Amino acid sequence: MNSREIVVSGIRSTGHLHLGNYFGAIHHYIKMQEKHDCYFFVADYHSLTTHPDPADLKGNVFRVVAENVASGLDPEKVALYAQSDLPQTTELYLLLNMLAYKGELEKVPTFKDKVRLHPQNVNAGLLTYPVLMAADIMIHRSAKVPVGKDQEQHLEMARNFANRFNNRYEDIFPEPQAFRFDEQTVRIMSLDGNGKMSKSENANATIYLSDDPDTIRKKIKKAKTDSGPTENNMVMPDYIANLFQLMSLVSEKSTYDSFLNNYNQCQIRYGDFKAQLAEDLAAFVEPIRLKSIELQKDEDAIRKILKLGAEKAQDSANKTLEMARKAIGINYY
Ligand code: TRP
Repeated sequence: MNSREIVVSGIRSTGHLHLGNYFGAIHHYIKMQEKHDCYFFVADYHSLTTHPDPADLKGNVFRVVAENVASGLDPEKVALYAQSDLPQTTELYLLLNMLAYKGELEKVPTFKDKVRLHPQNVNAGLLTYPVLMAADIMIHRSAKVPVGKDQEQHLEMARNFANRFNNRYEDIFPEPQAFRFDEQTVRIMSLDGNGKMSKSENANATIYLSDDPDTIRKKIKKAKTDSGPTENNMVMPDYIANLFQLMSLVSEKSTYDSFLNNYNQCQIRYGDFKAQLAEDLAAFVEPIRLKSIELQKDEDAIRKILKLGAEKAQDSANKTLEMARKAIGINYY
């Protein structure tokens, strides 16, 4: 192993995966698994900040694993594990907490949002969320973190903690940076035209990897359109551009070109356009949905995937932790 770049990313275990997640993240993970040493984990500890029902936790974690594997993440090529199966992360988190200051943690915008939205649940886990995230990354001494824009602030905190550790003790940790994909990152909008699909609170405007073909047809039928272009080559409103973008991702190029041409000539019929898009989306999602259902029925298979992932993550985690403990002076035997 090694000389390959180390990549770490955490996958939230709340909510069902949708096309925004697929094209924004999973799709890139699948490409990265060929050329990098990838550590991808389900961030189950992070999900505890909001006290999920204990009866739901396993199901959430297993579903996320199944959906990612069904989408093409290969547990043989990457280390796919549960955050709670790598206790070294938790120990590093404790060590890093000594270098994290209350003032800076309170200033993190995601924390401030949570305080505003849930003033009755401002727990220390929430405050130190960025410290745990830094530990997730630093435990493998990773310099590359494929995350969206919404995680930039957290990454900056991770860089601060890494630098602080290096300056105070020993130069052990690289500065984690956001992984820049070669191609432009795809941003999928909600079908109602309100913001990102990943931020959508409207399940009818979000296409999940668990949606069956009929559900997809219904959702696309309801997607926002208008009475159509009134001039040739008119600039598309963003909700129409979003549908075209989806078509560019799942349909034949000739299909896409022909609808685009119709649009540019003011001859597009949104009914036909949507019907075609719905069929192509359904054909894209269906194999992922079926594979995910099959995997979720086989809990032993998922347990095997998680065990293998945790085993693969052990070595680098142990090595990092030993270096960190030594650097701090925990070096008694
Ligand atoms: N905070 C990330 C999110 O909400 C999930 C996450 C946890 C993560 N630990 C991480 C991402 C480490 C990258 C690296 O999506």
